[in-house]
Amino acid sequence: MTDKYAVVGNPISHSRSPQIHAEFAKQTNQDMTYEAILAPLDGFEKTVKGLIAQGFKGANVTVPFKFEAFELCNELSERAQAAGAVNTLTFKAGQIHGDNTDGTGLIADIQGNLEHALEGAWILLVGAGGAAQGVLLPLLNAKPASVIITNRSLDKAQNMIDNMAAKFAHNKLSASSFEALSAPFEVIINATSTGLTDTALPIPNIVFAKNSLAYDMMYGRETPFMAQARINGAKVADGLGMLVEQAAEAFYIWRGSRPQTAPVISQLRKA
Ligand code: ATR
Repeated sequence: MTDKYAVVGNPISHSRSPQIHAEFAKQTNQDMTYEAILAPLDGFEKTVKGLIAQGFKGANVTVPFKFEAFELCNELSERAQAAGAVNTLTFKAGQIHGDNTDGTGLIADIQGNLEHALEGAWILLVGAGGAAQGVLLPLLNAKPASVIITNRSLDKAQNMIDNMAAKFAHNKLSASSFEALSAPFEVIINATSTGLTDTALPIPNIVFAKNSLAYDMMYGRETPFMAQARINGAKVADGLGMLVEQAAEAFYIWRGSRPQTAPVISQLRKA
């Protein structure tokens, strides 16, 4: 019998996940379907329970339901616990298992596709919302020299660090205001939502250097962050590779096989 999967969000019509998973399934000969499902803003739990009742094996979760998905799970991976959010649900034996593949997807894109080292690197993480929280533990696990979190609201960056240090005993973290940044970083990651509104961040130009990688987790457009990094000579990437890599990790959780991501990334890039 064909196994059924879905991505649940609101809005959802823009989602590339059905196309990505269809490519993965084709590549690895998996008998499965994957569809996009719009859940009402107040109806996430009901939608998920409906999928389970229809025999779905799992689902991805996107905006704005990743936190509700976290609350709904009976079991959580360490990655999901650290993220405080879930993007991959697996339905098995009446249980809902939650994982978060966003951070792993980011690391795979930076190290695998962009061939930029994280081990020993000085990393600047811009933002302290859900997206930044979602990638923090996998970033630390990549053994950087240091991760500095900078955010408009500095207290949120400090809270994120305190929580991470308390739960996962990491000591390579510190917080900084935008203005206090005074040296270049090897990797600068924009995890704020400013790309959506075309808002420039008050990041000093000094953080970008010729050999640094400036990565915006947003995809589909050149953000002001990317433009600033480019002018200052950094290598620039958007989040399309992360999108495909987080999907590949979810696919691996469900199907136990690893699809090739590079052809799917270039296919989406062309489209
Ligand atoms: P997401 O789930 O996309 O992370 P979020 O949790 O609302 O969304 O977090 C948004 C992030 O973008 C935060 O780091 C936010 O900064 P604050 O914590 O100070 O609010 C950042 N952000 C959004 N708009 C911004 C702006 N105009 N300037 C600077 N930072 C901004």
